[in-house]
Amino acid sequence: MHGSEYRQYDQMQHRANQATQALLLRAAESVPEHKQHKLLVADYGSSVSTSSAQLLAPVVQQLASKAALVSVAHVDLPENDWQALSEAVQSCAGSYVHVASNVSSQQCARSFYTQCFPAATVSLGWSGIALQWLSASIPQAGHLCCTPSSMDSGAISKIKAQAQEDWRVFLAHRATELKPGAHLIVTALCLLPGESTLGQALDQLNSCWRSMAAEGIISMEERDQASVPLYSRSWEEWMQPFAVAEHPSFLVLQTALRRVAAPAWARFRESNNVVQLAADYAGSMKTCCTRCLQKALSSRPVEEQQTIMTSLFDRFEGLIASDPSQSLGDFIILDLVKT
Ligand SMILES: C[S@@+](CC[C@H](N)C(=O)[O-])C[C@H]1O[C@@H](n2cnc3c(N)ncnc32)[C@H](O)[C@@H]1O
Repeated sequence: MHGSEYRQYDQMQHRANQATQALLLRAAESVPEHKQHKLLVADYGSSVSTSSAQLLAPVVQQLASKAALVSVAHVDLPENDWQALSEAVQSCAGSYVHVASNVSSQQCARSFYTQCFPAATVSLGWSGIALQWLSASIPQAGHLCCTPSSMDSGAISKIKAQAQEDWRVFLAHRATELKPGAHLIVTALCLLPGESTLGQALDQLNSCWRSMAAEGIISMEERDQASVPLYSRSWEEWMQPFAVAEHPSFLVLQTALRRVAAPAWARFRESNNVVQLAADYAGSMKTCCTRCLQKALSSRPVEEQQTIMTSLFDRFEGLIASDPSQSLGDFIILDLVKT
């Protein structure tokens, strides 16, 4: 995902992340002093990270007084826009790199479903709105995005099993990397009972994708190959590793839910500019789907891929503009401590 595109549409994530500021500060308070040593803070799924760079500033400031050096390591997939991340961290207003002279930033280009750091080296772990991305997509015919309400039960079971395994694997690797007593703070999408997080927009996008196949603009194979590995776990699915017995590696210190309305909707209520609203919604969906669409359309020249994606999101914008509805995101916040 290109950095500037992501930053244009990350306000919803930013608001959800802000709710964790107090937890992060309390977690930093509990880190013991290491005057001669380095403290490592890990940001799992950083993207281009203006949100993390600002959110972590007071946290890093506190840690900087306790250690010889504080290093913030941003973890993301190799295809992340690493240059944009580096620029964001250095130049965004209020970034943690400017809070003290003994602070550094590093990048870790690998999946957080693998071990990212040596055992027992991380003093604080943070993951903002990243764990709804599964390690693999599970294609379901005609579904660009996962919308359980319209999928067959076999596909839903496979996705749920993948989501459960991914969460287990993520926790197992963090359990290795975190020091005993270190906090792992997570914010991620959460599907509430009877509600549909961003569901209507995803349904609309799927119907646009299907109509392009019906019109012969894309092939049936392309339609069915494209699958965005995005899944909103329910509260029970998030809590599942901790539900049955005590988790062998983590104590759940605090959990919370937070509902965030897309800031684009508030702007629309003031301006009544439906074209802008539709462009905002389409822009944020596009940042989520581009990589998967490029992969599914990879047998075509790049210009054709662009034309198809433009047509898809133009259609989506048209649907939103004709039937504007509020986009709401529900987020879970977890404060876990490594035992
Ligand atoms: C919505 S962005 C969140 C960025 C930032 N933390 C924030 O709160 O604004 C999710 C990020 O998670 C990354 N991501 C998805 N799967 C990942 C994986 N397996 N390993 C590392 N990063 C991953 C994506 O590449 C994307 O940059």
